[in-house]
Parts: sequence; structure tokens; C-alpha cells
Amino acid sequence: MSGASADLVAALAALEQEAEQAIRSALGRDALQRLRTEYLGRKAGRLTAILKELPSLLPDARREVGARANAVKTALEALLGEDEAAAAAADRAARSADLTMPARPVWRGAKHPVTLVIDRINRIFGELGFTRSIGPEAETDWHNFYALNFPKDHPALDAHDTLYLGDGVVLRTHTSPLQVRVLQGYPPPIRVLATGMCYRKDPFDASHAPAFLQVEGLAVDEGITFVDLKATLTRFARELFGTATKVRFRPSFFPFTEPSAEMDVECQICRGKGCSTCKHTGWAEMLGCGMVDPAVLENVGLDAERYTGWAFGMGPGRMAQQIYGIPDLRMQYENDVRFLSQFTDMA
Ligand code: PHE
Repeated sequence: MSGASADLVAALAALEQEAEQAIRSALGRDALQRLRTEYLGRKAGRLTAILKELPSLLPDARREVGARANAVKTALEALLGEDEAAAAAADRAARSADLTMPARPVWRGAKHPVTLVIDRINRIFGELGFTRSIGPEAETDWHNFYALNFPKDHPALDAHDTLYLGDGVVLRTHTSPLQVRVLQGYPPPIRVLATGMCYRKDPFDASHAPAFLQVEGLAVDEGITFVDLKATLTRFARELFGTATKVRFRPSFFPFTEPSAEMDVECQICRGKGCSTCKHTGWAEMLGCGMVDPAVLENVGLDAERYTGWAFGMGPGRMAQQIYGIPDLRMQYENDVRFLSQFTDMA
């Protein structure tokens, strides 16, 4: 091969490499069109410029360089063709998109208001050193009633409107059987919270539901007194509802606590003035509580002379009504998105 033809072959190779790179990195149909003219243009294209040198070569060399030039041309044509087709498809897609279409709504999840309240209860008592426990929803009547000092055939059992699953097995009517399970399973000192579903044959109305959540609290140790109970629950209510919130304790009765009390907070919906949610009393019932009855401690094998304790049970659904101003308990069960989405940004 003569020096002139070797130069042309090298020039072709360089051209091919350069063109290939330029085509691969070109964006859009216009850019590709410009490259086509620059490299393959019939009059002023760079390949044409090389071909113009052919007549000066000897016939054999001319044939060889000509064949190479054709191969380069075919390769570049193919490459341009592919990229142009892709760019054309992208153009068509962009033209067919209707930019005036409204955006799709973004659905954001929200925690249920009752879950929000349970999270807060857990946080407040967590800071006081309470751990957490869970237990079965199908309970033996021993755990649900008798270990908790409910006398057999006592009307208290009716008061709970129990749903029986079979002989000696009930759907738990409260979370208090967890007191029994925790005390059986762990030695004092105990500070524990237990949340779970409870069931009663209650009507479904603005303030009652046949299935509802309860949060149980239990503290058992040496030297625990009613003063601890009152102080802890008052602090809790103020953390939950605000430092100026009024609370009151009323004497009450539960078979498993002695003495027993109920704690009310000033109704947050009417600020104590009286409304339909607080049945015009100005107070909202929050929880039942009391000192663990020595009989319960003995039923689980603890020395009631040595240990004392207190317990409480509260309804986070009722609390959510107060905190978020939800007038009807049933709204918490319907899962209407218009209701639930109002809790999106609450933590
Ligand atoms: N278990 C009681 C109820 O459901 C509430 C309660 C719990 C009372 C713990 C005292 C102590 O009504």
C-alpha cells in the first residue's frame, strides 16, 4: 500500500471513531441531523472530502480505500438511523403527553387518632420507667374475673356484659387480666403498660362500642402507696392535656382494687362548661384505678404483707375524643378517609 493510501485509511478510521462518539453523545433529532451533514453530507461532508482523494490513487489502492470508505459510511448510517428513530419516538411521546392534565393526588398515610393517643401514653409512661406487655384476647374466666377477685355468680360479671366463647373462656372484657399474667410471670418491682382490644356486649353508640382498646397500667413493689398513684396519674393527665388541666378523683369500686377511684379531666371540648360529650357535667371520665387488692396479690402467689401496688385502666378512644374533639365514638370505627386524613400531620 502506498503512503497516500495508508494515510487515507488512517483518516477513515479516525473519522469513524470520532463520528461514532459524536453520534452516541448527541441529544435530539436536530443534533443528529447536524452530524449527518457534517460527516456524510454529499457536497461538503468529511467522508466526501476523503473520497475526493481517490482519483489520485492507483486502481488497486483506490478499490481498497473505496471499499473501506463504503464500510464506514454504512456503519455511520446505521448508527444515525437507530438514534434518529429513538429520538423521533421520544419526540412523539413528548407531543402526545397532555400537560394540562391535573396531577394525580398523592395519598399520604396517617396514624389513626387512637394510635396517636396510645403512642403518647406509651411515651409518657415510658419516661417513668414503664415497660410494655401484651396478652391474649381470648381469656380464661379465671384470668378475666376470678383471679381478679370477682366473686363467682356476682352481678359484677353481668355488669361486664361478657361474650363467652365456650366453657370457661371469654373474650376479655378488660385488660386487667394482664395484671394477673404479668404478676405470675415476673417478680416485683414491676412497672408495666399493656394495651389491647376488649369486648363487651354493649350497644354501639356515641360513647360505647362493643370492641374497644384499653391501656392497663400496673406498678407493684415494696412501699407503693395511693399517693404515688395520684401523683403519677395527675402528672400523666397534665402531660397529655396541658399543664393547667384540672383533674379529679372520685371514689369508685372495682373487685380487684381497694381503695378504688375514677379519674376525670375537665372536658376539653367545652372546657368544663358542659356539653353533650361530657353529658353536661363539665368532666370527662378518663380511667379507673386503685390499689391492687391484697387478694389479687395472694392469688398470684405474692406476699401481700411485703408488696403493694396500684393499677389503672383507661380508654384511649375516649381520650382521643377529648384531645381531638371527636364528638361521636363511632367515627373512630368507620375509617372514613375524610375523617382519617385530618390526622396526617400529627405525631
Ligand atoms: N378494668 C377496669 C375496667 O375495665 C378498669 C381498672 C383497671 C380499674 C385497673 C382499676 C384498676 O373498668
